[in-house]
Amino acid sequence: GSIKLDCLGVDNFIGGHELGLMQPVVDAVHEIIHKKTGPGSDFLGWLDIPNGYNADEIERIRKVASNIRKNSEIFVVVGIGGSYLGAKAAIDMMSHSFASVLDRERRGRPLVLFAGQNISTSYMNDLVEVLEGRDFSVNVISKSGTTTEPAIAFRILKGMLEKKYGMEGARKRIVVTTDEKKGALRKLSNENGYETFTIPDDVGGRYSVLTPVGLLPMSVAGIDIEKVLQGACDALEDLKEKDVMKNDAYKYAALRNILYKKGMSIEMLVSYEPALHYFAEWWKQLFGESEGKDSKGLYPASAEFSTDLHSLGQYIQDGRRILFETVIRVEKPKCKMEIPASSDDTDGLGYIEGKDMDFVNQKALEGTMLAHIEGGVPNIQIKIPSVDENTLGYMVYFFEKACAASAYMLGVNPFDQPGVESYKKSMFKLLGKPGY
Ligand code: PA5
Repeated sequence: GSIKLDCLGVDNFIGGHELGLMQPVVDAVHEIIHKKTGPGSDFLGWLDIPNGYNADEIERIRKVASNIRKNSEIFVVVGIGGSYLGAKAAIDMMSHSFASVLDRERRGRPLVLFAGQNISTSYMNDLVEVLEGRDFSVNVISKSGTTTEPAIAFRILKGMLEKKYGMEGARKRIVVTTDEKKGALRKLSNENGYETFTIPDDVGGRYSVLTPVGLLPMSVAGIDIEKVLQGACDALEDLKEKDVMKNDAYKYAALRNILYKKGMSIEMLVSYEPALHYFAEWWKQLFGESEGKDSKGLYPASAEFSTDLHSLGQYIQDGRRILFETVIRVEKPKCKMEIPASSDDTDGLGYIEGKDMDFVNQKALEGTMLAHIEGGVPNIQIKIPSVDENTLGYMVYFFEKACAASAYMLGVNPFDQPGVESYKKSMFKLLGKPGY
């Protein structure tokens, strides 16, 4: 599952000495991460989580998931931000591209849908419509237990469950993932006797995918969570080294920092696999919320190629020279698909017939990288062996560690998000919430 960082595409932009000169900074960052002495150090729990993950909890996650798989056609995961994107990314990455149109039997598991990640009436209305007449269960996820968006969605879905299955029946179809003691959801769970899972105190939302926040939805979706955790554990071992030349997470963080200081203000995470779309969304939150503060930080953007080469491609090639790309390259696709032979060659594809489609995808990647580098866009490449559970866990841990390191290099606290409160205050005031 291990992933490899390929830096050839930054050679034109970074002098040979620059990375080495980052070593003293990396030493300091390594020290404050591992000795837990930096700002936000109360939130470094994710650093050790994959190592010896509580076996009883894995067992309980499996049991609850198996029950949901038996009694539900649809499983609704309610959450926002870090309580949503990790599970969504993992499930999209590992599932059939058209899971929602497969019938229950072929899918072999409930359809996992999400709510509480927006306040759209039409989204909620359509969800309610889909749930009517179908067996469903709900997992509400909120560390604070008080976030407005999921709270609204949960109130609606809880009402539906109670109406459909009665109080006792509903109780068995609600799973709550929240803080051990604090918050409205914990209180509600205690009162109603819901099944609960705990988000550890020292793990913040966007670093929580390898806790029950991500693991329960993954397990319901048929993902082998032990393999995911094993992948993260492999990363934990591989990324302990403090030498920037030997630790790819620190190397990636240092490269981002060097490019940022050269005036690149946007990093675009690129992949050639639509299954990675939400992984990029998760990555954007991780980096955007961890680094974008104190008037600093790279703006994390994402694109899917070759789709977006026909839209954003023009800007990337020829627009303002303010961005660099981090390209995720999947070395082995999950299946083969040959470009068929044709008796005539009117479509002009004769020169690639008989080749695998992935061969073309790989050449698109290589060709695009060359063109973009030539156009003044540095390219970092991250090679992953295949899209599987182990790699998923590895990537999560890789980016979490790189993100913490990168934020400390920048001189910001990777684990707070003071700016997120501003919109809430402003909205609450308009809504007339008591106290605002
Ligand atoms: O990363 C974060 O801390 C945030 O994105 C939170 O996960 C998000 O705001 C949801 O918070 P909560 O889980 O408390 O509902």
